[in-house]
Amino acid sequence: MLSLLIGQLGLLLCCLLSPTDATVVPGRAFDRFISIWLENQDFDKVVVDSAFADLKRFGILQTRYYAQTHPSQPNYLAAVGGDYWGLDHDEVVRIPSNVSTIVDLLERKDISWGGYFEGMPGPGYMAEASVGRPENQSPNGTWDYVRKHNPFVSYDSINFNGRRLLNLLSLDDFQSDFAAGVVPQFVMISPDMLNDGHNTTLDYATNWVREFLKPLLTDGAFAEKTLVQLTYDETEDYTKPNRIASLLMGNAVPKKLLGTTDDTFYTHFSILSTMENNWGLPNLGRFDVGANVFQFVADATGYPNTDPPNVANINNSISYPGPLNRNHPTKLMTFPPPNLKLTGAGGEPVLEAIAQTWKSEAKSDTPYDGSGRVYDGDDLPVYKGQGLFTALIRTHHITSRKKLQRVRKAASQHALPFVLIRSGGSPGIMYAEGAEADVNAWVSFVRGLRYKDFQCPRKPAANMVLVPSQAIQGSFEEVTSVTEFGHRMEQRGLASWWKSAMGYSSST
Ligand SMILES: *[C@@H]1O[C@H](CO)[C@@H](O)[C@H](O)[C@H]1NC(C)=O
Ligand SMILES: *[C@@H]1O[C@H](CO)[C@@H](O)[C@H](O)[C@H]1NC(C)=O
Ligand SMILES: *[C@@H]1O[C@H](CO)[C@@H](O)[C@H](O)[C@H]1NC(C)=O
Ligand SMILES: *[C@@H]1O[C@H](CO)[C@@H](O)[C@H](O)[C@H]1NC(C)=O
Repeated sequence: MLSLLIGQLGLLLCCLLSPTDATVVPGRAFDRFISIWLENQDFDKVVVDSAFADLKRFGILQTRYYAQTHPSQPNYLAAVGGDYWGLDHDEVVRIPSNVSTIVDLLERKDISWGGYFEGMPGPGYMAEASVGRPENQSPNGTWDYVRKHNPFVSYDSINFNGRRLLNLLSLDDFQSDFAAGVVPQFVMISPDMLNDGHNTTLDYATNWVREFLKPLLTDGAFAEKTLVQLTYDETEDYTKPNRIASLLMGNAVPKKLLGTTDDTFYTHFSILSTMENNWGLPNLGRFDVGANVFQFVADATGYPNTDPPNVANINNSISYPGPLNRNHPTKLMTFPPPNLKLTGAGGEPVLEAIAQTWKSEAKSDTPYDGSGRVYDGDDLPVYKGQGLFTALIRTHHITSRKKLQRVRKAASQHALPFVLIRSGGSPGIMYAEGAEADVNAWVSFVRGLRYKDFQCPRKPAANMVLVPSQAIQGSFEEVTSVTEFGHRMEQRGLASWWKSAMGYSSST
């Protein structure tokens, strides 16, 4: 009797003290993310494949998901680093240790992570490829595992760190971690060159992945809410805009969404913004900021997704310039500084460690502006100042619709990302933010319109603005009450800046 009691107590203790339960950091829409990557298929072909159709019943099909470029490697790098650095080839690359990744963001919140790569000979293996399984060895294929499908090892911030390298394991390790219930909270998986479809066919890979996923999608497979993404690195056809198929499955997907489609615009940068949004993570200050969040997650958190401003011209077929680029006529030698002023989908600023590392470049131009704009080899990233310029105008009142149309047109001609107007009663107030030259030009234009009692109590100057999400950016807004105007200023961290300029008490 006593021994039975002790036995039960032991069982109880063992479960209470289980290390896996203790370390799971809950997210807003899911507690674990597993992304599994297949190779080189076009959306139109994947969605009619029969094994894929089977899986579709268990998930949400993302119909407007675009890979970043060609060939494979830059797409993998983008999903963890928020940029692909202009890369346009698959050979060994290294990214300096002062460039951060998703790993830094996750570790900041003690969220476990791992990469599992089929055929990887040992933890943290860094060579270009493995020699593969004996049955595949010469004279036939020998490269099962390839470094180009493992984004982590190319970042020095990971490969200089033995503890981090130990998180890069083989697919056999995934199976044992799954069996033991210790799968990390953020996982990327690449099957080998046969199972991912690279050296085989579309249906070879989808059949393999269907079998692989079955146990993961079974009821009770995971105790925590788990989101499983099946995605492709890029399309096979290099002449089309690179739309791939991506499917969200797992017990984190609301039941009513199974078998549905989601037409929100995504790229692989959306993986980063979705993690930031789900766990309230800081951001990388790169293209992670402004990328749409997976819609069912955005619905749970209230994050406003929008199409990128250049959505009509997306063609992610050729890499934009960057330090890892070989072929673009525009040459760039250095890794761009992150934009330290951005607020990401987690509602948080750039990771403190990044701000610290890059503080000497806090005033340098950067291609990252949080707008969600998508760049390619024909539509190059534009380098702009990090400090937004802001200006405040007051007039007696703003009522003429005709004049207001001209104000709006000028804002769009000068590409101001955000303008706010208080129209109707007195006083009329206008706020604008953007690049220095643009804000200057717009203010002179408005002055020329001869509004009654025109004043510019805040002349165009660099300012610390909390740029919220891209949804609030990229717009020309008109409000009718001063209270509402004040609310928008507060959202941007400009409460006392505008109140004192208007002569309102700045103490409240
Ligand atoms: C290896 O290549 C030979 C000749 O092309 C072929 O007959 C054989 O089936 C291949 N073996 C494997 C395991 O693919
Ligand atoms: C896959 O194809 C590449 C050439 O594209 C070849 O070098 C490699 O050995 C093949 N790997 C396997 C496992 O068949
Ligand atoms: C996209 O870019 C590729 C490569 O330059 C080109 O072949 C293709 O025509 C472009 N497609 C569109 C729709 O612009
Ligand atoms: C980042 O690292 C690169 C390569 O080592 C170096 O050239 C650059 O100056 C560094 N920048 C900062 C801000 O640390």
